[in-house]
Amino acid sequence: MMEQRAFGASGLVVPAVGMGTWQSLDVHGERDEADRHAVVHAAMEAGTTLFDTSPMYGESERVLAGALGGRREGVLVADKVWTPSAAEGREQVRRALAWYGGRVDIYQIHNLVVWREHLPMLEELRAAGSVAVVGATHYAHSAFDALMEVMRTGRIQMIQVPYNAADRLVECEILPLAQDLGLGVLVMEPLGSGALVRRAPPARDLAPLAEFGVTTWAQALLKWILSDPRVHCVIPATRRLERVAENAAAGTPPWFDADTREYVARLASR
Ligand SMILES: NC(=O)c1ccc[n+]([C@@H]2O[C@H](COP(=O)([O-])OP(=O)(O)OC[C@H]3O[C@@H](n4cnc5c(N)ncnc54)[C@H](OP(=O)(O)O)[C@@H]3O)[C@@H](O)[C@H]2O)c1
Repeated sequence: MMEQRAFGASGLVVPAVGMGTWQSLDVHGERDEADRHAVVHAAMEAGTTLFDTSPMYGESERVLAGALGGRREGVLVADKVWTPSAAEGREQVRRALAWYGGRVDIYQIHNLVVWREHLPMLEELRAAGSVAVVGATHYAHSAFDALMEVMRTGRIQMIQVPYNAADRLVECEILPLAQDLGLGVLVMEPLGSGALVRRAPPARDLAPLAEFGVTTWAQALLKWILSDPRVHCVIPATRRLERVAENAAAGTPPWFDADTREYVARLASR
């Protein structure tokens, strides 16, 4: 069974493995959309009930909404505002609320773009009940100081940051601060946007991980992140139906101990 985790102090409960939609749901046309709807449905059946999207991801918000259809109530949508214009930000929110039945569970400021402009609007939506949790994301190490400034305002309840066995900078300051503040943590790029998962070690190196229920390199990478209890949900993206259950299976205990985490980190850095 997929583990469910309290999302910091936000009051939301999230599945350990969610799903990203960058590139993977950016398709147009009946055949391709039906194909990606099937990926979303398979994820839901595997217990992956949180989907992260953004207006930056082309058609993904719309395709996700189409896939959810009448099953919207059973999932959490994490969307974003991504524009330097306050007016366009309001328009992005209007579109998203229309797509997702008048509610976006987690609303993030994408890459901190003009966050001072967008934050009051998202706070109003939260006060009105159409958003449960407000947060901020950034992919770049150079923006971590700015992200911590926003975290310390006390005005956001979650962050989304990059973290994987080959990119551990968030361990220094971001994750300790998120834990102190009781923030929810979503992890982007858990497979290194594909680069890390493509460098799979030989099968014999994965054998010691079988006792943790891990049989593939993707599962080792995802379980490595989830074994840090400061993380609540990883959001791998895939276009491929057969990979959905594989990724979801990493969201079930047992979790790696410290020695096993270091072993996987060594495999990842080779
Ligand atoms: N600034 C931000 O807010 C920000 C930035 C980056 C990402 N994000 C979010 O984080 C999500 C995840 O990051 P990401 O999409 O960059 O990268 P990712 O999830 O780390 O990696 C996705 C890549 O891994 C491959 N993959 C997935 N499962 C696999 C498996 N079991 N075995 C082998 N390969 C596998 C996919 O290829 P296939 O499609 O062929 O399976 C795809 O190329 C995004 O989709 C987005 O929602 C947010």
